[in-house]
Order: sequence, then structure tokens, then C-alpha cells
Amino acid sequence: MPPRLLIFDDYESLSRIAVEMLVYIARTAIAERGLFTLALSGGGTPQRLFEFLARVEYIEQISWPQTFIFWGDERCVPPDQDGSNYKQAYHTFLGKVPLPPENIYRIRGEYPPEDAADDYTQQLLDFAALYPAAPPLATGVRFPHFDLVLLGMGSDGHTASLFPGPITERERTSPTLPVTAHYQERPARRVSLTPLVFNAAENIFFLVTGAAKAETLRAVLHGAPDLERFPAQRIQPTEGQVTWFVDEEAGCYVK
Ligand code: 6PG
Repeated sequence: MPPRLLIFDDYESLSRIAVEMLVYIARTAIAERGLFTLALSGGGTPQRLFEFLARVEYIEQISWPQTFIFWGDERCVPPDQDGSNYKQAYHTFLGKVPLPPENIYRIRGEYPPEDAADDYTQQLLDFAALYPAAPPLATGVRFPHFDLVLLGMGSDGHTASLFPGPITERERTSPTLPVTAHYQERPARRVSLTPLVFNAAENIFFLVTGAAKAETLRAVLHGAPDLERFPAQRIQPTEGQVTWFVDEEAGCYVK
């Protein structure tokens, strides 16, 4: 399915429409298959969407006991430490909605990257074994096919914790990837899901704002394929729908 590009006047309206569409996907998934699987991203851009989810009007629209929360990536820091994607999401909305704690599949950032990646792979297997009816599994590879994945994009074209550079064998063949390279001032030891999992999702929302990302967004969407340089281009779901939620500043070259 070709990606869909939505350009908004501002961050507020971008976040508002993203949450409305998230609720629609959640309700549809629950009505059709009895559960909704959502993978969250880190970074600052989803913050407003998370805040909306904690509002009564949205809390009431989602059946939280049928909702299962995962992460697309995590920094290897303890869950109570700043920089933890889990902490950000928990404080902003997960701790404020009636979500059973056992529905949270957290990447254990307190472990070293390799151990956290292996642990998360096992959690994905456990989930797939527990809910075999839905979502469906890829032949021979057991991991959830998410109803919705939230992703951001860095000004260098990275997404989740897939950074520019050669694509490793592990990234091609495993659902999870330990990352140990240094990245700007952010914690450099991380765990990421791989495109194998992202590209099996039903829906992917990229949330991208700010002028600093405008050039890269043009290259990612309209430039020649260069998957090593622009990891965001590695996200090409087999059947799912990618929707880019972009503000005027980030979208100035792609309108
Ligand atoms: C993380 C991410 C990362 C993020 C981008 C964009 O854990 O940091 O998942 O891929 O989405 O770096 O971050 P901003 O939204 O802060 O620009």
C-alpha cells in the first residue's frame, strides 16, 4: 500500500488527528479480533498524543483490558530513570488508564542490550503463544503483527533504534536488535525491534515535526532508496498502511 502523507498546521492538530485515528484502529481491531496491539516509540514527538490518551474522552473509547502495549525501541536505562521510553509513556498515560499491568510488554532497559533483546524476543514469543488466534503469525517466525506501531524519525533518518549504517544479519533475521553504538547525547545502548516486525504491522504512524527534519523527510519520501543512510526507508510494510503525520515545518519540501 503506498504511504499516506498528512500535513498539519501545527503539532496540536497533528497529535489530535493521530489520537483519533489510533482510537479508530483500536476499536476496529477489538471489534474484529478481540484485542488491540500497540507498539510505542520514544522521543519527544509522541508526547502530546500520549497526553491525549490520558484524557477521559479517549480513555472511555478504548477497551484497555483488550489492549496490549509494546515498544518499538528502548534505551538501556532502568525503567525509573529519565531517558527510559517506558517511564515516559507510563507517566504520561499508561499509569493513568485502566490497563492491566500484565498487558504491558516492556523492553527491560535495566539489562545489557544483548540480554534485553533476548528477553524481549522471548516476551514476543510468549505473547504470540498466548494469543494465537490474533494477530496472525508470519510463517515460521513467531512474533505479534501489531495493529499499530508509532515511530518517530531523527534528522539523520534513523527510526526506532535503527541507525544509519550497514544492515546487519541480525537486523535481517531476528525480531530484536541490541544496539551499542554511540548516538548524540542520548543513551547509546539500546534495543530495537527490526524491520521484520515493523513491516508485518497493520498500521504504522510516523510522527515528524520541525524544520530540522525537512530535508531528510524529502530524501526519505522522494529521494532514491538508500536504506543504509536512511533507516526510515527500511519501513515498508508488506500489506500494512504507513501514515506520515507531519507539521508544516517538517513538510515544507514534500507538499
Ligand atoms: C527513541 C526513538 C527514536 C525517536 C527519534 C525521534 O527512543 O529515541 O524511538 O527513534 O523516535 O529519535 O525523536 P524525537 O521525536 O524526539 O524527535
